[in-house]
Amino acid sequence: MKRFRVALLANLKINAPKFEGMAEDQWDDLDSEKTISTLIEAIRAGGHICEFFEGDATLFETLPKFRPDICFNICEGHFGDAREAQVPAILEMLRIRYTGSKVLTLALALDKPMTKRILTYHDLPTPEFQSFERVDEPLGPEMRFPLFVKPSREGTGMGVTARSIVHDETELREQIAYIMKRYKQTALVERYIEGREVTVGVVGNLIGPVSRRLPNNENAPRIQAGLRFFPPMEVDLDPYKDTDTVYSNRLKVDLADQLTYLCPAPLDDDMVDELNWLTAAVFRVTGALDVSRVDYRLDASDNWKPYILEINPLPGLSPGISDLVIEAAAEGVGHAHLVNMILDAALERYELK
Ligand SMILES: Nc1ncnc2c1ncn2[C@@H]1O[C@H](COP(=O)(O)OP(=O)(O)O)[C@@H](O)[C@H]1O
Ligand SMILES: [Mg+2]
Repeated sequence: MKRFRVALLANLKINAPKFEGMAEDQWDDLDSEKTISTLIEAIRAGGHICEFFEGDATLFETLPKFRPDICFNICEGHFGDAREAQVPAILEMLRIRYTGSKVLTLALALDKPMTKRILTYHDLPTPEFQSFERVDEPLGPEMRFPLFVKPSREGTGMGVTARSIVHDETELREQIAYIMKRYKQTALVERYIEGREVTVGVVGNLIGPVSRRLPNNENAPRIQAGLRFFPPMEVDLDPYKDTDTVYSNRLKVDLADQLTYLCPAPLDDDMVDELNWLTAAVFRVTGALDVSRVDYRLDASDNWKPYILEINPLPGLSPGISDLVIEAAAEGVGHAHLVNMILDAALERYELK
């Protein structure tokens, strides 16, 4: 087996810039030193040479010296509408290969309303929505309470609390104003899906050529070859039903080690097939590569119909904590194995392996 020079690129929480008026959860989606050291060990265990580099403008200096064959990219970025796409853009300028989705997909997936427009275009089920640039924009006639208000471009449950569920005009306007002020971005308002919380992780690439569009013929074959689906994971929100009926920032960050994750989620085979197919379809129409995780709510009021909330093309890889890591473990795929599966998917895509 060939030994590759792999540069691990990430944004460490301890290296993140601090600024006045910064929200407490500002850097909740960045990585810990422990995650980074475990990732380095994993890549080295795969037989490669690996070093860590902070994913910022210093890469223009540091990377050409290291001369990587490929970068293992998990950079979330710091500032800007398309911050997850910035390091990949640098890498493309430097003509260096990297794992995971490319610039367009990373920028798209960070923007939830824009992603939902693509999903809607393909008739993929995602909650009805409206994007608010101003607090007082009139609510569309198809938007019925209760509604759900969240930031358009955050992750890790940032801005998601029990107050995200709004029941009337007053609560709606209050929450839109809060999101805009605190996160300085448009607010995404969706139909509130009461029900179960499920996520599906996937590694690999669709065997091509596969156009990014889905055929509009219902009977067309469901193309998903080349993708390895992990069993769906459900977050058991039942113990928190009085405070958090959604996967809030509080649960994702403060209570992460106390949550009960059901994996594989108790779902029948038809539902798992449907979720896998939807995951493949989202992966395809957003142009994702190598790895992703798609989040769903299953609608309690409509026979548990699955609704796509978002695609995470840079899913967390914290050992023992991140959803994708838990899903892989449920199939006996340990952390180091999972990391090397992602790396291998990229190496194969670049025809290096
Ligand atoms: N339309 C919705 N209906 C019900 N719950 C929602 C809705 N949108 C988001 N949520 C809840 O908020 C959580 C975080 O939302 P999500 O869009 O996945 O953002 P994040 O990037 O923070 O994970 C979800 O896991 C879910 O529990
Ligand atoms: Mg999510």
